[in-house]
Amino acid sequence: MEVKPMNTPTIFYQDGLVVLDQSKLPLIKEYLRLNDVQSVYEAILSLKVRGAPVIGITAAFGLYIGIKDFPGEDREMLLKQAYQVGDYLKSARPTAVNLAWAVDRMLNKLKESLPLSVQEIKDTLLAEAQKMIDEDNAVCLAIGQYGKKLIKPNSGILTHCNAGGLGTARFGTALAPMYLAHREGIPFKVFVDETRPVLQGARLTAWELKQAGVPFTLICDNMAAMVMAKGWVQAVIVGTDRVAGNGDVANKIGTYGLAVLAHAHNIPFYVAAPRTSIDYKIASGEEIPIEERDPKEITMVSGKDIAPRDIEVYNPAFDVTPHQYITAFITETGLVFPPFRQGLEEIRFKPGPSEKTDLDL
Ligand code: MRU
Repeated sequence: MEVKPMNTPTIFYQDGLVVLDQSKLPLIKEYLRLNDVQSVYEAILSLKVRGAPVIGITAAFGLYIGIKDFPGEDREMLLKQAYQVGDYLKSARPTAVNLAWAVDRMLNKLKESLPLSVQEIKDTLLAEAQKMIDEDNAVCLAIGQYGKKLIKPNSGILTHCNAGGLGTARFGTALAPMYLAHREGIPFKVFVDETRPVLQGARLTAWELKQAGVPFTLICDNMAAMVMAKGWVQAVIVGTDRVAGNGDVANKIGTYGLAVLAHAHNIPFYVAAPRTSIDYKIASGEEIPIEERDPKEITMVSGKDIAPRDIEVYNPAFDVTPHQYITAFITETGLVFPPFRQGLEEIRFKPGPSEKTDLDL
């Protein structure tokens, strides 16, 4: 089956790691080669690669890059080096659990592979990172498949930030249902929040949806209430960076406000969540570390000051939406409704889609 939200993937490995530089979009479409661990770290930190699932995949390749030139056969030293690289990569961004999840998966694979030769271990790790891309594609398509049923003909769907192909290997989480519904000819329209301060909605989601031919209208974040009051929005679908065991959701700053607005207007609020974004180790959203970013993201636009210098600025990149405001999660195993602690636990070990062909499209 062919779903082409983007004519090119966000990440691939061909004689080295290649990622689409999201910091330059939509004006310049440029691929970057990330040849060393520091470049991988820097690309994640500076949002050249952003979006929870794809930062996880990038870090997985980063871990391989960090050991691929390891000389000799001392596997204990190799393991030590891999742990150092893993800690460094994990420190690039704290909120999306996918980053730590992907690094830990690679480290576990390495430990399992210790009886092999160093070269075989390196090959195994590269294959593991490649596998994460295939799995991500299958998971996103399954989310799309379950989520598209929530998109009713002639409805308006509001989304925030970018949880599209750019935030994953290719198909997106929150946008996957929209791509599949559009492909089936269901008429609907998307309202895209511009998503201050880094404008992932205006720069990235609008770029993606335009390429895919999905009808949309770009709005400023502060217009969502009015658009809802007018009756133009029948559902909100967003992505996530981390879901706590009780269903509290960390996602791009502004998501919490949208969830409250949706509640006030009686509009269902869905969170597209691959299981790699569910942190079963934490009981509630209070335990989610929230990244605070450079004040310049708020005080400057395109390198120009838009606020007085030397002022106090607060710039959290994410907020936590309490689970009470969430109607359901769209996961690769199906929809999860409240009570979320139980529902999320039930899908924890459920078999997921292993390949694209698992889908009945
Ligand atoms: O700071 P960002 O751009 O990495 O934040 C991204 C989001 O909040 C996305 O909604 C989330 O990571 C899901 S991407 C499929």
